[in-house]
This record gives sequence, C-alpha cells and structure tokens, in this order.
Amino acid sequence: MIIPVILSGGAGTRLWPLSRELYPKQLLPLAGEHTMLQETALRLEGLSALGAPLVVCNEAHRFMVAEQMRRIGRTPAAILLEPLGRNTAPAVAVAALQALDGGEDPLLLVLPADHVIAQPEALRAAIESGAPLAREGRLMTFGIVPTAPETGYGYIRADRACPLSFVTGHLLKGKDQGTGMEDATAFAVAQFVEKPDSATAQRYLDSGEYFWNSGMFLFKASRYLEELERLAPAMLRWCRAALEQAVRDLDFIRLDAEAFAACPGNSIDYAVMEKTDAAAVIPLAAGWNDVGSWSALWEIGARDADGNVRRGDVLTSGTRNCYLHAERRLIAAVGLEDHIVVETADAVLVAHRDRVQEVKDIVAQLKAQG
Ligand code: GDD
Ligand code: MG
Repeated sequence: MIIPVILSGGAGTRLWPLSRELYPKQLLPLAGEHTMLQETALRLEGLSALGAPLVVCNEAHRFMVAEQMRRIGRTPAAILLEPLGRNTAPAVAVAALQALDGGEDPLLLVLPADHVIAQPEALRAAIESGAPLAREGRLMTFGIVPTAPETGYGYIRADRACPLSFVTGHLLKGKDQGTGMEDATAFAVAQFVEKPDSATAQRYLDSGEYFWNSGMFLFKASRYLEELERLAPAMLRWCRAALEQAVRDLDFIRLDAEAFAACPGNSIDYAVMEKTDAAAVIPLAAGWNDVGSWSALWEIGARDADGNVRRGDVLTSGTRNCYLHAERRLIAAVGLEDHIVVETADAVLVAHRDRVQEVKDIVAQLKAQG
C-alpha cells in the first residue's frame, strides 16, 4: 500500500498578499480550479494500491484542510496537527509512526502540498517504478533536470555507474548488463546537497551531473524511522512522545504541544537525505514547479497573445508579459511590461517580475510593524 503524506505546513510568504499565515498558498486555488492541496491529492488518482492520505498541518488550518479534502472525496485517514512548525523531518516522522500504527509497513509518498505538476501521469509512472525499490529499503527521490543555479533547492548527483533496474529493484552489475541512463529509471544517489551557495549551484548546473530534488519522497515507513533513529535519535524520541501523548478527536490527531516543542527542528533534506547511504533517484519530467514566487505563476499560467496571465477582472492596453490578479476590484494596466500586480481587499502588490523574491522583505517589514 502507498500512503500519501501531504505536508501542508508552509506559510508561503513569497506569495503575499494572497497567501497569509491564516490562509497559506496551499489552501488557495492558485494554479487551477482546485486548491493546491486538493490538486496534490487528485493527481494521484489511478496509482495502484493507493491508501487514504495522511495530512500534516498546523492546527490553525485544521478545518480548512479537512473541508477541502472532504470536498474532493479524499477524506484523510488522519490529519496530524502541529502546534508549531518543526520543519519536514519531524512532520514525516509523526506520519510514519502513525502509518505503522495499523500493524502494516506501508510505503509513504511524501508530497509537498504546494507544488504544481503539469503532467501528473508522468509523476504516477515515476512513483510506480520507484515503488519496488522503496520496498527493498531505498529512500526514493524524484530528480528534476535543473535549468538555473537555484540556491533554494537540494541537488542530487546520480551515480550513473550504479543504475537500478525498476523491474526487480536489483542493482544491474557490470557494463554488460546496463548501458546507463537510457536503460534504467533509477540510480543510486552519489551525493545529496541541500541548498548550496550560488557558486556551487552554478558549478553543479554546468557539470550536467546533478538533478534538483523535487521535495517528494517514497520509502517504507519503517525504513525512514530506522534512518532517523541512526541520524537524529532525539528528534525521533520527541516525535514518538508527541504522538503517544496526542489528543485524538475524530480524524484530528493533535500532537502534544510540549513534546513537539521540545523536538529539534530540521528538514528531511538536511537530517536524512544528505546523510543516508540508501537514497536513490528517479529522473522526473512532469512539468514540476514549486510555485516559489509570483513569477512562477506567470510562467506556468495560461498566457494570452500579449503574454499576460489574468485572474479576475482585468483590463489592459499596451501591456505585456504581466501577471495580473484581481480579487475584488478591477485592475486596469496601461503600458506595463514584465510586472506583477496582485489586488486583494486590504493590500495591493506591484512588483517587477525579476524582483519577486523581495516580496518576503515586505512581509518581514509588516511583521516588524506588528
Ligand atoms: N506539516 C509541515 N510542517 N509541513 C511543512 C513544514 C512543517 O513544519 N515545513 C515545511 N513544510 C512543507 C511546506 O509547506 C512545503 O510543502 C514542503 O513541506 C517543503 O518545505 P519548504 O520549506 O517549501 O522546503 P524548501 O522549498 O526550502 O526545500 C524543499 O523543497 C525543494 C523543492 O521545492 C527541499 O526538499 C529541497 O531539497 C527541494 O529542492
Ligand atoms: Mg518550497
């Protein structure tokens, strides 16, 4: 059985003013008719042996998460509620402990709730080919061919001399049995580097040997916990305590606040993936985008003849290559190029498309003002 573990804990500050602490980007219909959380669950439709998902989110979002999942007919097996964010390694740990509760050892498919995948069938195919390797104890990652020296991603060097066959999951030994990339769908991971500095990222890009880590993972629940036991035992101990002392209320599992607060925070990438010897990577070409900024929404959006992406009530004249998003009022843009305009009830963002990363500075200023 494959149990999706949907991570829905991020704040998405770079998509301000639409994305707010109480209404983060994964709970918004940013790139389609459904919210990003709903899309995450829906794109798995058709996978074999698919179980009901586990969602891990902040307790403030519990009703929105439950309602959005119910509306698409994907009621979670449980919604694990975090009193505060401890990053992804503990979030996955509590999900793994919960998944083992039923006496089985399912595969966990870890999915960020805020990514866009243009070709979900390619993702499903990659998951199906990764499943046998995951059952053998591999920690599967899905690698994206990089297009820029991004510093916000993990970089994965595939061991091309070590292709893994997707049929049995066994290592193909020797050159006579495998010719490399073209035959194999997976490779052992030679190196995993989370968020390199920009010179290193550029070097990785130029080498042509690295994938970006997509942030999705597939492994046995027990295997992840074994690695955590070895690499971050204190984290595992506190996660266990937080789940043991959790308050259960219908589908909600409210993690114990004291135990979870005591848990050291870290991402799965730093805590496990950089250190484990069991990682493998499946190349993934599925139109993946992690929607890290407003410019990403322009890139993946449906552009009109002038290159504009429009949401809501928008009029333009002589305006090109803009992202224009109106929630409540009409946006009228004249002679504008390469800009982002986002209008909401209480704030309007106007930004150059090349500088959208700086939106987080505005959010920081707002926070400082209280
Ligand atoms: N439940 C929960 N709790 N979810 C969380 C938490 C948490 O404390 N922290 C983050 N998440 C969710 C986010 O909402 C997002 O969906 C996902 O986990 C990944 O977290 P990010 O904070 O967005 O990670 P990142 O973008 O810096 O890096 C990760 O993703 C990249 C690709 O987008 C890493 O896996 C990188 O290696 C990867 O390249
Ligand atoms: Mg991210």
